[in-house]
Amino acid sequence: MSQWPVYTGAAEPHDGIDALPPPPPWRAFDGGGDSPLDLPAEPADGSAASPDRTHRAHTYRPTEQAVQLVNAALYLRRPLLVTGPPGSGKSSLAYAVARELRLGPVLRWNITSRSTLADGLYQYDPLSRLYAAGRAAAQDLPSGGELQDHLRLGPLGTSLLPYRRPRVLLIDEIDKSDLDLPNDLLNVLEEGQYEIPELLRAARTTPEAHVMVDGSDERTPVRGGRVRCHAFPFVVLTSNGEREFPPAFLRRCVTLRLRRSDEEHLEAIVRAHLGEPDAYARTLIARFLERGNSGELATDQLLNAIYLTGAAGLSAGSRDELAEQLMPYLSRLAGGGERAAGDAQEPDAF
Ligand SMILES: Nc1ncnc2c1ncn2[C@@H]1O[C@H](COP(=O)(O)OP(=O)(O)OP(=O)(O)O)[C@@H](O)[C@H]1O
Ligand SMILES: [Mg+2]
Repeated sequence: MSQWPVYTGAAEPHDGIDALPPPPPWRAFDGGGDSPLDLPAEPADGSAASPDRTHRAHTYRPTEQAVQLVNAALYLRRPLLVTGPPGSGKSSLAYAVARELRLGPVLRWNITSRSTLADGLYQYDPLSRLYAAGRAAAQDLPSGGELQDHLRLGPLGTSLLPYRRPRVLLIDEIDKSDLDLPNDLLNVLEEGQYEIPELLRAARTTPEAHVMVDGSDERTPVRGGRVRCHAFPFVVLTSNGEREFPPAFLRRCVTLRLRRSDEEHLEAIVRAHLGEPDAYARTLIARFLERGNSGELATDQLLNAIYLTGAAGLSAGSRDELAEQLMPYLSRLAGGGERAAGDAQEPDAF
């Protein structure tokens, strides 16, 4: 079953990822020669995952274009840059792919203007190491100041461990980053590897360290201070599309532009979240589509409105009013659907 596509957008999880064809020769990684690691298991009862993430994953209804480009990124071992208006499903896509392809828990890195490449790779806390060493010495214990006990890989650093199957890495809201981050990031993703200088320096005496990884208390061996991926991670970078990225960055990504959903897609989304839309839900979908011509609205506003107005005991009048208030514009669109400059932050306005 090595046929396109591996990711289908169907709701049922499967093992199609094992039939993913080998990477193009310029994207072949070898994991540094060690035997590959198995993915961490998703907790069987879903207890560690938030209900929101679990729900998003199985209710996601991708467009045909999204399915195609997710597969392109998987086959090419390239990051997927997903742009689109708020609430268009950029972040949820990563969870949906992880669920369908059984790729384990999603590693999530939320970007702010202060995020640096180093935060994504690993955090090392020399002070806590110093204290631990001091405490151990005071109590006459053999150690306590071991480097590996004070070093934890971040989401990016964890995603590049030599896993047999790709990890899913969501780098959320890359448009919020400092100007340098996209290029720094791309260098690491291009190489599929990085070094941990602290471990590299200690490699002569400690050739193998067992470091903590993102999102779990388990430890993973790192040899010689170098991490090199085996299966290239499935990386989703999201952006609201207002930021221009450098050409060098864009060239190395597969780009998916999510647009406003049409009626059929909205109905499928509502069905997935709340069941078959009734007559009133359909009028709300129509109103949402119409209002979407003059301002920006997010899909979850529609879901909230349909959910709440389905509550028993609401009079028709207050139901309409409530629906209206639950779908305020996030920003105004100027003229032919283009965003008006400078009013992106404008709150509620009818
Ligand atoms: N294609 C879709 N199928 C099912 N649900 C969807 C889809 N698109 C969006 N949603 C729902 O809409 C809500 C918003 O989605 P999500 O948070 O992924 O959007 P986003 O583009 O990341 O938004 P933001 O720009 O605010 O981060 C979620 O509740 C999600 O489940
Ligand atoms: Mg998002």
